[in-house]
Amino acid sequence: MVDGSSKPNVLICGGVNTYSRALAAFLVPLEGEPLVSHLRIVDKYSVVPATTYLGAEFPKVLAKPEVDYKQANLTVLSIVQSIFDPPEGQGPYDYVFDLTGEVRYDRTEMIQINTTCNVARMLGQEAAKRKVKAYVRITLPFYETTSKGTHDEKDDPKPDGTIGIWWHETLRILSAIENLNLVILRVGFVYGPYVEFGDTTSAITVGSVYGYLKKPMKSVWSPGKNPTNTLHVDDLAGAAWTLAQWIGPLGRKEADSLAGESIIFHNEKSKVSQVEGMPPHDQKLVAPLFNLVDDSNSTLLSVGQTVTSFFGTTFDFFNLGERTMYKFMDDAVEDINEHHVGGWTQMIQSSNPPIPNTPLSAYMDKYALEKHIVAFSNTKIKEVTGYKLKQPQFNHDGIKEIVDKWKEEGSWPIL
Ligand SMILES: *[C@@H]1O[C@H](CO)[C@@H](O)[C@H](O)[C@H]1NC(C)=O
Ligand SMILES: *[C@@H]1O[C@H](CO)[C@@H](O)[C@H](O)[C@H]1NC(C)=O
Repeated sequence: MVDGSSKPNVLICGGVNTYSRALAAFLVPLEGEPLVSHLRIVDKYSVVPATTYLGAEFPKVLAKPEVDYKQANLTVLSIVQSIFDPPEGQGPYDYVFDLTGEVRYDRTEMIQINTTCNVARMLGQEAAKRKVKAYVRITLPFYETTSKGTHDEKDDPKPDGTIGIWWHETLRILSAIENLNLVILRVGFVYGPYVEFGDTTSAITVGSVYGYLKKPMKSVWSPGKNPTNTLHVDDLAGAAWTLAQWIGPLGRKEADSLAGESIIFHNEKSKVSQVEGMPPHDQKLVAPLFNLVDDSNSTLLSVGQTVTSFFGTTFDFFNLGERTMYKFMDDAVEDINEHHVGGWTQMIQSSNPPIPNTPLSAYMDKYALEKHIVAFSNTKIKEVTGYKLKQPQFNHDGIKEIVDKWKEEGSWPIL
């Protein structure tokens, strides 16, 4: 391969159900030169036959000669260690992208500890032992910031619920691993082609139903500045790559001095003795941390308006009386879903050509319906690494690209 020896070997762990597929397609594009010499992706899913949604593009990426997929249980230490052994003829892994972690909001604390904290800890420890040049941890917006002002990396947002507490704890655990060339990328609400996970995708699907029904889509939350900052998945991939290249030549110490932030304790002190590798509450931990959101300053209202106007309807809010009725979230979840789940089914059944199955659902779970306030500043990553957003705005073009690709692969109704 031309210049093969000068390109890094890369390991992506986890995230096939979220953003790893887009990252893999960025590193080894279907058209054009790969950025890597060799890429291994490891996750618990089988890809042949697929045990999770893969999208039309990912199987083609997997078929590239540079790419190797391993189905593996990363909760097992010996397996974690073995995935770092490259295939014969390849040098050791230079960069690791850690997209592991349980993303379902309703999992128990025990599951979060076992599959979010422990998996990342074992990966981080092995990566440190192997002297990996860059370990990029992707962390999702399981936080609540305040509505006002900007929120740079000095800000200390509150982890949101059980999932937030343990995803945040994972950052502390990784930060504490000696000689780990860790850099953390904390993203907003990610959307993009073949991304079926997340609130923004949910908003797009549900918005289409209200467009189809020719009714306004209504929010249970009062109008107000509820930031829900967005990010295109191509920028998640691009920035993760930029950060690996940034820390690679620097190393952790230098990276900490240039971009280190305190990773503050947000847990119960009593957990420290119960969770392996959890640093004491008063241990001062520092790691290079970068927020990444697009330039849209997206809010509940702006996302709602962009999505509904794309589908030819409007975004509205329930009035006070209606909101009072939905004081009890569990009732609200069923009531609200009744309005649009049937509509989506109708759309799927009316599609020509028919849609035998789709990963998309108009069902909004409790998490999707809860109020989330996530506002991050993206200034630091731009200033420190020179990263330029590829998709700075959440707009109709972005939604069209997503819907067109779903139509093409037969996941979205053609009416
Ligand atoms: C992964 O390994 C753990 C620990 O041995 C086990 O409890 C779990 O069931 C395994 N998961 C799968 C999907 O095999
Ligand atoms: C988590 O791991 C512990 C220790 O290996 C095990 O005893 C427990 O059954 C696991 N729990 C879950 C929910 O996976």
